[in-house]
This record gives sequence, C-alpha cells and structure tokens, in this order.
Amino acid sequence: MRRIAAWALAGGVLCAQHEYPQVDINEGARLYLNLCVTCHGPEGDQVAGIDFGRGKMRRAYSDGELVNIIRMGISGTGMPGQGNMRAGNPQAIVAYLRSIAARPSRVQAAGDAARGKTVVETKGQCLSCHRVKGNGSRLGPDLTEVGALRRAVELETSLLNPDAVVLPQHRFVRVVPKNGAAITGRILNQDTFTVQLTDDQQRLLSFPRADLREVTFLKTSAMPSYQDRLTPQEIADVVAYLASLKGL
Ligand code: HEC
Ligand code: HEC
Repeated sequence: MRRIAAWALAGGVLCAQHEYPQVDINEGARLYLNLCVTCHGPEGDQVAGIDFGRGKMRRAYSDGELVNIIRMGISGTGMPGQGNMRAGNPQAIVAYLRSIAARPSRVQAAGDAARGKTVVETKGQCLSCHRVKGNGSRLGPDLTEVGALRRAVELETSLLNPDAVVLPQHRFVRVVPKNGAAITGRILNQDTFTVQLTDDQQRLLSFPRADLREVTFLKTSAMPSYQDRLTPQEIADVVAYLASLKGL
C-alpha cells in the first residue's frame, strides 16, 4: 500500500459552480497519490504543458469532461484511462485537482537544497526521528522519497504545523497493558486481535488486544514545530532539500 494523503485542510473549496466537500478532496488526494503522481508529479507539473497546481491544462474542462479523461485516458498519448475505477471515485480526483488549483500557495523556490541538507543533519536533528537513504532513525516516517509524493506546500506545513497533517499511517498510539506501564509508539498495524507498534527505542512490539487495558490514538504529531526553531530561510532550505528527495 502506498502512503495516503489526508490533508486536514479546514472546510471545502468554493468554486464558481459549487463547493467540493473536504471528504472528496481528501479521497482525491489519496487516489492522486496512488494513480497519478508517478507521471504528473506531486505538484502536478511534471507533464509538459500541464500544471494542475496552477489550474493550467490545454483548455478549461468541465468536471464531467475531466471525469471522462480520467476514465478513458487520451488515446494515442501517454495518458492512460482508469476504466470504471471500482477502487475509487473519479469525481473525488477532480475535486482534488480543483482544490490544488484554487489554493496554489506554492512555496517560493527561495531555498537551497544543499544548505537544507546540512540543517536536516545538524541543527534540525531530523535524523534522530527520520531516515534518509538508510541514515537515521525509524521513529518517524522515512523521508527518502518524500519529494516525489508531497507538494512543497505540504512539506512546509509538516515543518511549521505538524499537527495539521498527521497521516493516518503515521499516527501514534498509546497502549496500556493490563500488567504494566503505558507505552507510546508509531502504529504499524492493527487487527481484531493484535496491535503492533514501534516504540522510541525502535523496537517492534506486538500486543494481543486481550492483554491491553487501553488503546488510544494520539491526535497530535510526535514531531515538534520548527516555526521558532529554524529561521524562515532555513525552513525554505529544508523544504528545497525535502522536495529534492525522490527515492534512491
Ligand atoms: C503513465 C503516465 C500518466 C498517468 C499515470 C496519468 N497521466 Fe494524465 N497525462 C499523462 C500525459 C503524458 C498527458 C498528456 C497527454 C497528451 O499529450 O495529450 C496527460 C494528460 C492528462 C490530462 C489532460 C490535461 C490537458 O492539458 O488537457 C488530465 C486532466 C490528466 N492527465 C489527469 C490525470 C489524472 C487525474 C491521473 C490519475 C488518475 C493521470 N492523469 C494519470 C500521463 C499520465
Ligand atoms: C521527535 C521526532 C521528530 C523530529 C525531531 C522530526 N520529525 Fe518529522 N515527523 C515525525 C513524525 C512522528 C512524523 C509523522 C507524523 C506526522 O505526520 O506528523 C513526522 C512527519 C514528517 C513529515 C511528513 C512526512 C510525510 O510523509 O508527509 C516531514 C516532511 C517531516 N516530518 C520532516 C522533518 C524534518 C525536515 C525534520 C527536521 C527539521 C523533522 N521532521 C524532525 C517525527 C519527527
């Protein structure tokens, strides 16, 4: 399973015709990440002449026409069709495309990736929680390909306001065993009978639910905000570095 994006933006997006519900936008973001990001890129500008993040396409399409393009593709080009998409609703992808065009708020590319790398490895101490290309800790998500999956504006939000954007699979959980002290860690998996997490020592722990007194999902991120810890220039540099991380 790929990571899913569920940006906790407030409210829906108001467009000329109607409002797109936030649940659709979130669902569309997840589908976009699964089906479209490899070709169109996290900013939507990786195919020449098209820039979803700025609402730039060959012409203005109606929502219905976009749904058709998503279903049928564009024959004779590299744009594949998704068919009937049992796994999701093409209308939700349209809502997501409209939402990123309505809120371009793109981070100005004033950052320097090389300086950002230094901040990540030294002052920011990011590797005490994250891994990049095999270096660092497993406590937080691996950032090796974060630049291929997230828009720069989302990366910036992760740094300034981590609580706004905790992805479901990054959530922290607190478990209290019937015969022991509470343990907090990152959820790896859960089913009817067990809960698995990694704790801050990076140990993989599995608990039978029957042995637990309490399982609570934490609402806030384990990541500190860097709003006051880094200068605006350092934030821009770190975002530029993260955006450059596109896998091994
Ligand atoms: C395999 C690569 C690939 C994938 C995957 C892909 N696209 Fe495309 N898409 C393209 C290419 C290439 C074009 C340009 C086609 C052309 O030359 O007309 C395109 C064109 C489009 C257009 C028309 C834009 C315009 O300017 O007219 C839309 C809309 C679009 N894609 C949306 C999507 C969505 C939404 C998804 C995911 C469901 C997706 N694409 C998945 C490669 C891809
Ligand atoms: C105390 C541990 C900790 C530190 C230090 C930390 N992070 Fe995080 N970070 C996390 C956790 C846990 C998450 C997942 C939960 C969330 O999304 O907030 C996360 C999420 C992220 C995400 C979102 C990942 C995604 O897939 O969208 C980015 C980007 C990120 N961190 C970058 C950084 C950078 C850059 C630094 C250093 C400036 C840093 N983090 C420092 C723990 C940490």
